[in-house]
Amino acid sequence: MEKLETPNPAFKREVPQEYLASLKFITEKEAEEEAAEKAAKKAEREAVQAKIATAVEAARAEERATLEGEAGDAAASGSTGDGGGGTVAANIDWNAVAPADMTLFYPGQASFEWVQNGKTHGGARPLTKGGDACTTCHAKELEAIGTKIVAGGETEATPIPGKPGTIDATVQAAHDDENLYVRLQWPETAHSPAPFVEGGKMDPDNQIKVAMMITGTGIELGEQVGCWASCHADNSYMPFDPGAEAIAANADVAAQLEAKETITKYLTESRTKVEVKGRRGKAQGGWDKLKPAEEIDQLLADGTYLDLLRVYADGTASNGYLLDRRVENGGEMEAEASLAGGVWTVVFSRPLNPGAPGDIPIEPGKTYTVGFAIHDDYAAARFHHVTLNTSLALDDETAQIDVTKQ
Ligand code: HEC
Repeated sequence: MEKLETPNPAFKREVPQEYLASLKFITEKEAEEEAAEKAAKKAEREAVQAKIATAVEAARAEERATLEGEAGDAAASGSTGDGGGGTVAANIDWNAVAPADMTLFYPGQASFEWVQNGKTHGGARPLTKGGDACTTCHAKELEAIGTKIVAGGETEATPIPGKPGTIDATVQAAHDDENLYVRLQWPETAHSPAPFVEGGKMDPDNQIKVAMMITGTGIELGEQVGCWASCHADNSYMPFDPGAEAIAANADVAAQLEAKETITKYLTESRTKVEVKGRRGKAQGGWDKLKPAEEIDQLLADGTYLDLLRVYADGTASNGYLLDRRVENGGEMEAEASLAGGVWTVVFSRPLNPGAPGDIPIEPGKTYTVGFAIHDDYAAARFHHVTLNTSLALDDETAQIDVTKQ
């Protein structure tokens, strides 16, 4: 197959002038349409912001009334969670930070192995051999992809009826001399019970969760694929999930991974081999081909990991990283989450340079590949919506997420 796919120089042809002209015409037309769409989205966003502001004001008035009722009760003061000016980024004026419109789509079971395999994925070769990023091909068709996958099929064995294929979110990021601040907002989605869990809620305690991952150094295809570097075919709810019995049977690996029921996300770099093609019925992935602990320590010291910041529905947070498994390193982080006027607002902050293993320093002049995930509607594990590879940099308008100084 690979031989057949290789371009034959004998078939090289000049591109006809008419074709180039029509391509130019279409490109211009698309740019115009995009500008119009952007303007419409901006208006929509402003309407949403106004709605939030009204809801916030109502909540504040209510809170004031409560506080007045409890006058003298010092413990009642200081409550937040109004979705507007919370405490995490109290010094940041979000109105002055241009939001990036992000489409998060439902990825189903399209793993890192799946995207690299020419048998399952049309873009495998340009991705693995040609240096293309996921966004090179898919930036404009996420709605189509998400809508198709969420309905069930080859990459979704257990669909959740009614679940939306995409979530439109805005992401804003700012910094001062010490900290990085990130704010996500998106409309609440209607509840669609998951038919495969009792009660329909996979994580009843968390209506939503937000994650941001930052790609470290020395990760194969890391800049091109973002989060996909850690999403393997043998993770929980993935097609080659080994199951509790197989994990228990491999006691050494299970102990090193602290794994019982399932395998968390991991990087290929933490394994001696990861099966991508799955030829002759081999299981895809490499959960049990774990490198020795000393080598994992070295990778961590070298910055070869995905930094992982998570926020839960009640505003609690966990700071960690993905390498041989998901680790919580307890690094410094603050967060808040709230629902007002039908819109979720999640804000979190972290030192720009925490100086801790597992926390990637964010430095001026560097562009980072990040990815965002939203678990909406009490979802857990892979039943989330995600971005493709996304660029983030301090004070750089060319980055998708321009972290502006305040
Ligand atoms: C060179 C272009 C290219 C690149 C790069 C690329 N893809 Fe694709 N992708 C394709 C093509 C072509 C298809 C097949 C479309 C079809 O069959 O209709 C596809 C299909 C998919 C699908 C399935 C969509 C569906 O309709 O079922 C997903 C999911 C996907 N790609 C994800 C990714 C991810 C994630 C990355 C990056 C890790 C990526 N792709 C990189 C070209 C690309």
